[in-house]
Amino acid sequence: MILVTGVSGALGGAILDGLRAVDGLDVAGASSSGDGGAVRHADFDRPGTLEPAFAGVDVLVFVSAGYAEDDVVLARHGAVVRAAAAAGVKHVIYTSLAGSGERLTIALAHRWTEARLAEAAFDVTVLRNGLYAEIPADLALAGAAAAAESGVFAAPFGDGRLSVVARDDLAAVAVRVAAEVWADLAAGAPRRHAGKTYELEGVGAVGGTDLAEVLAGVVGRPVEYRTVSLGDVRPLLAGLEPYRAGHTVSTFSNIKAGLLEAGRSDLPAFLDAPRPVRDLIAAHVTSRLRG
Ligand SMILES: NC(=O)c1ccc[n+]([C@@H]2O[C@H](COP(=O)([O-])OP(=O)(O)OC[C@H]3O[C@@H](n4cnc5c(N)ncnc54)[C@H](OP(=O)(O)O)[C@@H]3O)[C@@H](O)[C@H]2O)c1
Repeated sequence: MILVTGVSGALGGAILDGLRAVDGLDVAGASSSGDGGAVRHADFDRPGTLEPAFAGVDVLVFVSAGYAEDDVVLARHGAVVRAAAAAGVKHVIYTSLAGSGERLTIALAHRWTEARLAEAAFDVTVLRNGLYAEIPADLALAGAAAAAESGVFAAPFGDGRLSVVARDDLAAVAVRVAAEVWADLAAGAPRRHAGKTYELEGVGAVGGTDLAEVLAGVVGRPVEYRTVSLGDVRPLLAGLEPYRAGHTVSTFSNIKAGLLEAGRSDLPAFLDAPRPVRDLIAAHVTSRLRG
């Protein structure tokens, strides 16, 4: 059986839907809110739920649960690795963070988890996911009202750009890898994805000027990009949970330093055509403004 964790989330849900559409697979989903029926109950914050949830599982698609302070995420992910080993899972596919994000604060928990997985007895495939296109799309959305009023989009990017990817593309890669791992296990064939780490970096990058152009199309007037300082932005994050504010400033710092524009990506090896991210960003901003 293939089990996908985190299926109440957007990524886990899309992976589960994709695997259910593949003929001949035995697939189930797990969630912290699962009722133990159609969706297994696997709450990473309650380690005792995990080994029973992983019973009978051959391939575990382990979707990270990163929305928390580092110590909470490490405890969650450590519990998943221990329970997968105890339950006799044969292969774990982990959704991690792409190499361009190495200096982001969120990288710590992902690299720690990769190290724990590498020590385990089961086979591992690491899907190092690029940043979601929703990240710059939400930043553009936050600046939409000001852009409509003043014709200026202000953001702390400097000249930096970030490579981003459609979450659905990342889900499609996870589906393909999980189905191929399953097929190899079932056939007793060499496991082509065992021990592999794939860099699923976005193949399209956007910066402040790109987002201003997207906003101009949405609000129907010319919009100019203006960079602002990290110090200007930090007070605006005061309403966020503290860990989110820290990660957000880290993201801005990395963009400004030019570190989030990726080089090589394994994405094209798995997909015929990655979705064009600028179109996705425009669609996201437009739908949210209208919705
Ligand atoms: N690449 C990127 O740009 C990027 C951006 C943001 C986040 N991420 C990471 O990717 C993951 C999936 O993203 P998403 O867009 O699907 O997030 P999402 O829609 O916000 O879903 C949140 C995810 O966290 C999981 N979670 C929360 N508490 C949990 C718990 N106690 N036990 C088990 N799982 C728990 C949820 O699973 P349940 O169904 O079990 O509740 C769900 O999979 C995130 O959790 C985060 O680690 C990546």
